[in-house]
Amino acid sequence: MVFTMFYLFVLGCTTTNSTDKNDNPRERISINEGWKFMKYESETLADKLIYDVRPPIENVDDTKEADSKPTEAVEIATSSEVLKPYILPTANPFIKDSTKHHKRPQGNPGENFPFVQTNFDDNTWETVDLPHDWAIKGPFMKGDDAEVGGGMGRLPSNGAAWYRKQLEIPETDKEKSIFLDIDGAMSYAMVWLNGHLVGGWPYGYNSWRLDLTPYIKFGESNQLAIRIDNPNHSARWYPGGGIYRNVWLTKTNKIHVGQWGTYVTSKESSKDSATIDFKIAISNDALSNTTVDVVTEIYPLENGFKRLGLRAASIKKNNIILNSNSQTTIKGSAVIKSPKLWGPPPTQTPNLYKAITTIHAQDGTIIDNYETVFGIREVIFDGEKGLIVNGEPIKIQGVNQHHDLGALGAAFNLKAAKRQLETLKELGCNAIRMAHNPPAPELLELTDQMGFLVIDEIFDSWERKKTPHDFHLIFDDWLEADTRSFVRRDRNHPSVILWSFGNEVGEQYTAEEGAKVGAKLSAIVKSEDPSRPTTASMNYAKPNMPFPSIMDVISLNYQGEGIRDAPAYAHLQGIKTSPLYPAFYEAFPNKAIISSETAAALSSRGTYLFPVTGDISSPISDGIGGDPKTGYVSSYELYTANFGSSADKVFASQDKHPFVAGEFVWSGWDYLGEPTPYYSSRSSYFGLIDLAGFKKDRFYLYQARWRPDLPMVHILPHWNWPERIGQITPVHIFTSGDEVELFLNGKSLGRKKKGPFEYRLRWDDVVYKPGTLKAVAYKNGQFWSEETVHTTREPSKFVLKTDQDDLLSNGKDLVFITVKITDNKDHFVANANNPISFTIEGPGEIVATDNGDPTDLTSFASSERNAFNGLALVIIKAKKGAIGQIKVTANSSGLQSSSVTINCQ
Ligand code: GAL
Repeated sequence: MVFTMFYLFVLGCTTTNSTDKNDNPRERISINEGWKFMKYESETLADKLIYDVRPPIENVDDTKEADSKPTEAVEIATSSEVLKPYILPTANPFIKDSTKHHKRPQGNPGENFPFVQTNFDDNTWETVDLPHDWAIKGPFMKGDDAEVGGGMGRLPSNGAAWYRKQLEIPETDKEKSIFLDIDGAMSYAMVWLNGHLVGGWPYGYNSWRLDLTPYIKFGESNQLAIRIDNPNHSARWYPGGGIYRNVWLTKTNKIHVGQWGTYVTSKESSKDSATIDFKIAISNDALSNTTVDVVTEIYPLENGFKRLGLRAASIKKNNIILNSNSQTTIKGSAVIKSPKLWGPPPTQTPNLYKAITTIHAQDGTIIDNYETVFGIREVIFDGEKGLIVNGEPIKIQGVNQHHDLGALGAAFNLKAAKRQLETLKELGCNAIRMAHNPPAPELLELTDQMGFLVIDEIFDSWERKKTPHDFHLIFDDWLEADTRSFVRRDRNHPSVILWSFGNEVGEQYTAEEGAKVGAKLSAIVKSEDPSRPTTASMNYAKPNMPFPSIMDVISLNYQGEGIRDAPAYAHLQGIKTSPLYPAFYEAFPNKAIISSETAAALSSRGTYLFPVTGDISSPISDGIGGDPKTGYVSSYELYTANFGSSADKVFASQDKHPFVAGEFVWSGWDYLGEPTPYYSSRSSYFGLIDLAGFKKDRFYLYQARWRPDLPMVHILPHWNWPERIGQITPVHIFTSGDEVELFLNGKSLGRKKKGPFEYRLRWDDVVYKPGTLKAVAYKNGQFWSEETVHTTREPSKFVLKTDQDDLLSNGKDLVFITVKITDNKDHFVANANNPISFTIEGPGEIVATDNGDPTDLTSFASSERNAFNGLALVIIKAKKGAIGQIKVTANSSGLQSSSVTINCQ
């Protein structure tokens, strides 16, 4: 039986706007630099210009299991004056039914408040550049009764703060429309310009726009003031705090392509030809009707996606009348012969196109120029065959990623985001689920360029709550605006293949009622983008419940391989399910099934605890895989959260159910917050890659599976166990080969071959003797790869390695320096935890240090850091505009210092 769910289409794209003033009347100006910033010392000292009243916090348990049942919202009655009615109209462009548009009440709240006044003296405030995360430098909050607990990363992300900046708007802009574009502010942002409350946006992960035009004083300096109010207990992870993404001033003529105003889809895409359909929304903010011509030309992008190739096609000139003060949508199509398709490497290439839409006045003057980057591909989710991209079945080898960038916090940085993706490429990962919120727009530009397949996801909660101050507080008011703006922003990206409108929401538990909420969200997504399927991830809903029927693709969190169902999990409380792939397959034969979260396995990089379980998958309990005293979890890579399964168990289950389209591991990189199982820590244990970007052993278990052609063999544990001489010290091997011979001090411990559904080779009875462990891997009987691990001498020196030798002094570029401790024979000392102090000479600064240890509560801004199991990281930035050499030195008592030099230009 072959049932096929067929989705023909899309392409995706990123929408960018030219910044070149000479040939384009549209300007997109970065206004990231030179903001004044002030955060109230405590929430009680903050002003009362609040968006809304929040329910009181009672008995929150931040260590609650991630798959606990979400609960009902708490009703609050208040008579306080709140600003919500003045902010809600910002949502209007994203509310389809105009009778439901919000009307701004009379008045101008906050107009007399000092911080919104032009003449307020903010000289004593801190000067910051955006993107800015006010919490990342800490200090970390320690102890059981910390105000912000481990769940949210122990960092001071909570509280209220103000950002102020002056904008010079010349007299010559008088005829223009001027917009403030904020890619993300955490959270409850409210904006005043020259003392007028303009609007705002509560949800911290969405991008949004305000029209500043009515409040601008042309030819003068204009005072922008933004209030941010970030609640504690708002998330199950570290949200960051402040204006943490890019901010732009967009200037256009009164007639212009609207915000995210183009929508591109393709049909009949094949190697021979593709039909590209365009919808273009054009705004006329002027008081008179006007006739214009609209032309769109399409070019392939070449050479690092920067240069335009020869024109591939154009859309016929459209002559239209634009009514005053309204938006008009036009349609057009073009055929591209022999299109270069977008597809995921290594078997396909992520080719992109750029469409340039030009609006001309009747006298030929250019009124607007708008660029849309997109890709042409055909994506099919098939109930039997899984995911098919451009005719090729592609197994999803995905990971879940949170939005933070480790020691840099939530503040978006392109270089740091690229580093995360490059490490994932090395892993063999081809897909990312944006858990559980829309990413920075630039991240999707990277996934387009690098060819990752993306699940773009918006909510972790709907009406029911997971934490007392999460999105459920504003769900009813903002669900439509947040959902529409999310899809409108991202629907042209070819990398986005699936929309997710929820993760493990409480509405899974409320039968028809919950399903109805989901159906509403799904319908909104589809009305903005009918070309892609929708989904919502389920850790509880079963095939016979109403919930799964609201989505096109079935997304299972942990349920596919079963939850708490292996023998080692039998004693646990909580959701229990047997492996559910077959039941969903049978109930929904037309729908593709993906595992949107698998594993939830845990480890502290380079830490090994004994004894080692003989099971293939085991929950952590004190003394079994985890040590509550140190807060470390064993890296034998067999231990999981209570609801999780080891990689080995997941792989077997995927291989036994080939109709499953693939998996998204929880998680790719470690992230801030959610330090299951030890909530005294600051960051997660789930990653295949630690918070600093260092590979855990698990990385190689997945690489062996995902890059079977890359010769690789990996040994664990390290071999420095002076206290274990004569004791059983199991050795496990991960390899892309199929057979391994293990040697201890030259003596063979036997040759083992992987059996069916086996993904590691284990020698569980090795008696520890110092010396050398060597693994020789074979594939199909032929030598494949080998690795040797030595018992080392004392730590003696550092090896510093930069990820690039040159650094741009643009205030954004970063160099990541990996610091490795070796002995005097140059062998990596994998258990060295020496304190390191970093110094820097020349025109640079240390932005952050880290070591990937979730228990390390030293501020990320510190230049002192202990190595964690042999490694540390230091992140460097150049002073703005500087030229010269930066020298970074690592020092530690008893170790030889070592330096590295970076050219800064
Ligand atoms: C899931 C949840 C994720 C994360 C993960 C690991 O239940 O969807 O957000 O919490 O567990 O704990």
